[in-house]
Amino acid sequence: MRPVDVPALVKPIHYQVPETNLGFPYNIRLAMMGWNLLFFRNAGFQPDSSKSAEWNRGAYLVEGPEHCAACHTAKNLIGGDSSDYLQGSGNLGEWHAPDITPNPHTGIGSWSEQQVVDYLKLGSNHVAVASGPMAEAVTNSTQHLTDADLRAIAVYLKQVPASTTTLPQPLSMGNAQMKMGENVYSANCTACHNSDGKGIPNLAASLENNPGLLADDASSIITTVLQGGRGAHCWVIN
Ligand code: HEC
Ligand code: HEC
Repeated sequence: MRPVDVPALVKPIHYQVPETNLGFPYNIRLAMMGWNLLFFRNAGFQPDSSKSAEWNRGAYLVEGPEHCAACHTAKNLIGGDSSDYLQGSGNLGEWHAPDITPNPHTGIGSWSEQQVVDYLKLGSNHVAVASGPMAEAVTNSTQHLTDADLRAIAVYLKQVPASTTTLPQPLSMGNAQMKMGENVYSANCTACHNSDGKGIPNLAASLENNPGLLADDASSIITTVLQGGRGAHCWVIN
């Protein structure tokens, strides 16, 4: 399939597009012209002939219909995408959209293609659980893609330029905060996540090597612990 082919699964319907209701200064068309000049590329998808058809299909889906960068790329002061493509959002309120480049520490570098496919199809893959805005993305969108499309996304994500984060230095075990954390963890968390943090397959997520936990922004983790996750609703299970 060519990258720009749209499978004939969705029938066109008549739809009245709602009036735009943007706040100042985005409601001024002239200001939007300036913004468009800076950030809007009206070029359509340009396939890269040096890459495989599968890579191009993945690039087309990630950049176009799935707009993964809308959440996973940090924004500059006036809302344009920064150049740190897919390297993680700033803060989305209570949630953080993590680095999804092949960085082995904070990104998906340690994941197999199958783990990326499982995550987007089922909302979890043992080392990560979609619990916030990503659960909505899985529920309303990615679970409905074909397996071939999900694999194309995985192939593409595994090849985007990796972010270059420096690893934080771990605190010593004698550190007072570490001791308190250990106490709280042993008392409240080990029953499900295990004392080694590996969790229970198909039941409780692994906290070991979990990219969400290794991200430099802890919002999603704190929100999950305080409020619980709103897991994805998946119908397409095979
Ligand atoms: C009763 C079992 C249970 C206990 C106790 C428990 N968890 Fe969990 N935890 C889970 C399950 C199940 C999930 C996966 C949630 C889902 O599927 O939506 C999870 C998910 C998480 C996640 C999100 C992982 C990700 O990839 O997004 C974090 C972080 C977490 N737990 C931390 C903790 C901490 C810290 C404690 C102790 C304060 C704790 N949990 C106690 C069962 C438990
Ligand atoms: C509406 C915003 C949004 C969109 C659109 C979105 N994501 Fe996410 N994504 C998030 C957030 C927020 C998280 C982490 C917290 C959570 O579970 O919601 C996440 C988590 C992930 C993770 C888990 C990474 C980890 O380190 O645990 C992967 C992989 C991922 N997204 C891939 C994608 C891909 C691929 C697309 C496009 C097909 C996409 N996302 C679209 C917001 C989004």
